[in-house]
Amino acid sequence: MNSEQSNTPKHVAIIMDGNGRWATQRNKYRTTGHKAGVESVRRTIKQASKIGIKYLTLFAFSSENWSRPQKEVSRLMELFTRALKKEVPELHENGVKLRFIGDLERFSEGLRKRMEHVSDLTSNNNKMTLTIAINYGGRWDIINAAKQICAQVEKNQLTVNQIDEKVFEQFLCTTDISHPDLLIRTGGEQRISNFLLWQLAYSELYFTEVLWPDFDGNCLNDAILDFQQRERRFGKTSKQIKEQKNA
Ligand code: IPE
Ligand code: IPE
Ligand code: MG
Repeated sequence: MNSEQSNTPKHVAIIMDGNGRWATQRNKYRTTGHKAGVESVRRTIKQASKIGIKYLTLFAFSSENWSRPQKEVSRLMELFTRALKKEVPELHENGVKLRFIGDLERFSEGLRKRMEHVSDLTSNNNKMTLTIAINYGGRWDIINAAKQICAQVEKNQLTVNQIDEKVFEQFLCTTDISHPDLLIRTGGEQRISNFLLWQLAYSELYFTEVLWPDFDGNCLNDAILDFQQRERRFGKTSKQIKEQKNA
C-alpha cells in the first residue's frame, strides 16, 4: 500500500487501551500488560511506517492516569524511560521523527531533557512523524492555547477579532501536524477519554475489542481497510463528494 495511491490515512492516532485487562485475563499484574504493550507499540510503528502513514500519534499516558495506584504509575514511567533509551536508535535509523505532546513540566528534569534530546536528534527525519502523547489531556491543550492567545492579546500582538480557528490551532501542541484522519481505540471502550478533543472533530473513529497487547500489523491493516470504506463528507452531501472526486 502506498499512501498517495490507496487512500491510506495520512495521520493515524491511537488510544492504546486494554493492557490491564490483558494481564488480568492471564492472572498477571497489570504492569505485565503494560510491558507487553510496549511490544505492540514497536510492531505498530513498523507497520505504520511500512504502509506509508506520515503521522502516527500514540496516547501513552493521560493527564488523568496520575490517579492510578502509585506503583502502577511509577512502573509506567520506568517503562517509558527505558523504551526511550532502547528504541530511539532504531527509530532514528529508520527516519522516524519523534515528538512529545502534553504537559511535560510534570516530569523530572532528567526525563524532560531526554525527551528534548530525542526530539532534537530526530528533528530532520522525514519518513514518519511519531508523536507520543504523555501527560496529555485535550482540555489542557485547549486551555493552554487560550492562555497563550490571551497573553498575546494583552501584549497587543494579536487582536480579539483576529482569533479564528486557524489562529487558535497555531497554539495547540499539534500545530505542525495535520488533524488525525483516523482514530483507533483498542480495548473495546467507545470514548475519547480526553484525547485530542479539538483535533478529532472530523476524524473517522474505529473501535476494536482487541486489547492493546494483542494489536499487530494485521489489526492496523484492518482498521485502515475499514477507513477506506468510509465517505468523509465534512458537512457536504454524498453527491457533492462524488462530483468532487470525479472532477
Ligand atoms: C492502557 O491500558 C494503558 C494506559 C492507560 C497507560 P489500561 O491500563 O488502561 O488497560 P485497561 O483499560 O485497564 O485494561
Ligand atoms: C485512555 O485510557 C488513556 C490512554 C490510553 C493513555 P484509559 O484507560 O485511561 O481511559 P478510561 O479511564 O477507561 O476512559
Ligand atoms: Mg484503560
